[in-house]
Amino acid sequence: EKGGYDYFMLKEIAEQPKAVADTLLGRIDEAGSLTLDEVRIPASVLREVDKVVIVACGTAYHAGMIAKYAIEHWTRIPCETELASEFRYRDPIMDPRTLVIAISQSGETMDTLMALRHAREQGAKVLAICNTNGSTIPRESDAVLYTHAGPEVAVASTKAFLTQLVACYLVALYLGQVRGTKWGDEIQSVIRELSEIGTQVEQVLETMEPVRELARTLADKNTVLFLGRHVGYPVALEGALKLKELAYMHAEGFAAGELKHGPIALIEEDLPVVVVVPSPRGRSVLHDKIVSNIQEIRARGARTIVIAERGDTTVAPYADHLIEIPATPTLLQPLVATVPLQVFACELATARGNEVDQPRNLAKSVTVE
Ligand code: M6R
Repeated sequence: EKGGYDYFMLKEIAEQPKAVADTLLGRIDEAGSLTLDEVRIPASVLREVDKVVIVACGTAYHAGMIAKYAIEHWTRIPCETELASEFRYRDPIMDPRTLVIAISQSGETMDTLMALRHAREQGAKVLAICNTNGSTIPRESDAVLYTHAGPEVAVASTKAFLTQLVACYLVALYLGQVRGTKWGDEIQSVIRELSEIGTQVEQVLETMEPVRELARTLADKNTVLFLGRHVGYPVALEGALKLKELAYMHAEGFAAGELKHGPIALIEEDLPVVVVVPSPRGRSVLHDKIVSNIQEIRARGARTIVIAERGDTTVAPYADHLIEIPATPTLLQPLVATVPLQVFACELATARGNEVDQPRNLAKSVTVE
């Protein structure tokens, strides 16, 4: 059932282009409008929403962090993303104009379930983004948008993450469409690019051999750091989480802008640091800032592993290892930038002799708080 792959994780990484395409299927019409009839929250209610709160755990939380950037940019509705396990304990402020989005692959994560129950008690509307038909979280929500990743068996989430991102983008764009906010050329071109993103994920998968080779050379390291900015920051966190889970290594993700506020003290000779570089088009200020971050850490001896858009010539001189990804709109970059990090973690785990599909101490779904 592993379809010729050694591990479910490898199979699931390879299935990502299809998972992404399946999650888009039937949801964008020929005119480039979104048809999310399954979101059974009436448009009149969605038009009144004045705050979006996203709750999730682990990898799904990272998808939620990325969704915040998209929702605020495309809809101008204030959005916060919170760890489900923290949410209800701070007595969060919600009312019927709050839209809560609960993201969960399994649909059974107890922390997320308790957060959404709390939200509904306060009168908020809850939309689930879920991969498992008929599971508890969608059953207890007002509406559900299913991700169509297919069953995910490996404990480390891969294809579910990419489809959660797609679902989040769809919800963000749909909210924009329903409310008519900023509904212009940018949105239309994003929808076009989103509908073709599976091909780009495929391209990334075809170029992963050097990433595997690199990972094998790092098997005896103790620490790997990950840096990103903007949507690259949650990508860095996701890269670090994958490495912890699979390789049992000390891995930390940082917002690159935080470097000089502390983490730069960790940089030492030959320390592997993975940096996710935003597109030099789009948010070019961020791009230039991260290039100087790379220079700073390299000057202190770090071994820089740089994930950057193909053709981004400015970063090459400072990259000990350059991993190129296709050009995408800034907000969509996580869909292609995360893939090398999954491959990297999987290969490191294998090189260290770890059990890839069933990492120690972890369960696929966490049904206790
Ligand atoms: O089923 P869920 O999406 O609710 O699970 C949330 C987390 O437990 C999950 O993403 C976990 O962090 C994965 N093992 C990450 O690879």
